Amino acid sequence: MTKKIEAIIREEKLNDVKDALRAIGIVGMNVCEVRGHGRQGGIVLAGRTGSYQVDMLPRLQLNIVLSDKNVDRTVDAICNATRSGKPGDGIIFVYPVDEVIRIRTNERGHEALMYEGDIDTVSET
Ligand SMILES: Nc1ncnc2c1ncn2[C@@H]1O[C@H](COP(=O)(O)OP(=O)(O)OP(=O)(O)O)[C@@H](O)[C@H]1O
Ligand SMILES: [Mg+2]
Repeated sequence: MTKKIEAIIREEKLNDVKDALRAIGIVGMNVCEVRGHGRQGGIVLAGRTGSYQVDMLPRLQLNIVLSDKNVDRTVDAICNATRSGKPGDGIIFVYPVDEVIRIRTNERGHEALMYEGDIDTVSET
């Protein structure tokens, strides 16, 4: 029914990914700053006093809650906009969402995810 896409991306890819999402009609989203590492465990930097390990690298976490049927298209758009092909491009998690409540109107579920002109109101499928 309703899913949450949590995409951990490079900070410099935010504008590209926002453009790609706007192009397919994704409206509601949020972003937060996170730090972490994947399987390389961070990077080694050369400083004036020698090299040191940075194990928690800054990334952006992009969160989108949307209808099930739009997940694949949205994940593809995010991947295409953020992939450089180098290690550290990021990772995407998809979770089930139990409920959505728009505070102003008390709309629930799918109703609370509808935006004027968004992927749900314009797409045929
Ligand atoms: N298993 C995980 N759980 C939570 N966050 C993760 C996990 N793996 C990666 N991340 C987050 O995603 C960011 C980017 O990860 P990264 O792209 O390096 O993944 P990777 O699995 O090491 O793939 P690659 O080999 O392409 O680097 C990390 O900095 C971290 O914030
Ligand atoms: Mg990595």
